[in-house]
Amino acid sequence: MTKMMKWVCSGMMFLSVTACGTNSGETGSSTVENTKSFAGKKVLVAYYSHSGNTQAVARQIARQTGGDLFAIETVQQYPSSYNALVEQAKQEIRNGFMPELKNKVPQMDQYDVVFIGSPNWWGTYAPAVKSFLSQYDFGQKNLVPFVTHGGGGMQNCESDMHRQLPRAHFLQGAAFPGRSSGADEKKLQNWLNKLAQ
Ligand SMILES: Cc1cc2nc3c(=O)[nH]c(=O)nc-3n(C[C@H](O)[C@H](O)[C@H](O)COP(=O)(O)O)c2cc1C
Repeated sequence: MTKMMKWVCSGMMFLSVTACGTNSGETGSSTVENTKSFAGKKVLVAYYSHSGNTQAVARQIARQTGGDLFAIETVQQYPSSYNALVEQAKQEIRNGFMPELKNKVPQMDQYDVVFIGSPNWWGTYAPAVKSFLSQYDFGQKNLVPFVTHGGGGMQNCESDMHRQLPRAHFLQGAAFPGRSSGADEKKLQNWLNKLAQ
């Protein structure tokens, strides 16, 4: 089975047991206040998730780091048909399209570390994340990419983020197989421990 078939199949399997075509989770219009800290830093966990896998990992990261969660949401909904979604995503990525977003992070200034989560779409991050990254001055913040995927791993997700924000300071990202139950806790914890050192 090719990589492509693998992720299409895994996506289809997932969509067959969930409501499809909707952004899920936090409204994104407000962040959850959280008083804990990650190595003394104030953390934001911003993510785009179409079918819930990246959201599950984002929630784990927020729980482990004491970070605030922020769901990136597009104004325009993606098609509910998986094939139409895949085709639209392909065109958007090919054209460098940046969809309009519903929401903005209140007080981005307060964060030292910003985790940025996306599904792997066509080997890179979702257009909504591209829009998100274009909207803020990340200044002295540490950015940490994380990705969920259907078998392809990180592919160009991390390197494309670096290319979009050449002056930003990135820490080592991580890729997790897309599952509704989230990431393997041990792998996640090891990665976070290294980042916090
Ligand atoms: C439009 C589209 C393109 C995708 N492209 C890839 C890909 O290139 N490589 C890969 O491993 N998985 C790919 N996948 C599978 C997703 O990365 C995977 O299911 C991910 O966990 C979905 O995250 P989400 O539930 O947060 O939306 C793609 C899925 C979609 C819908």
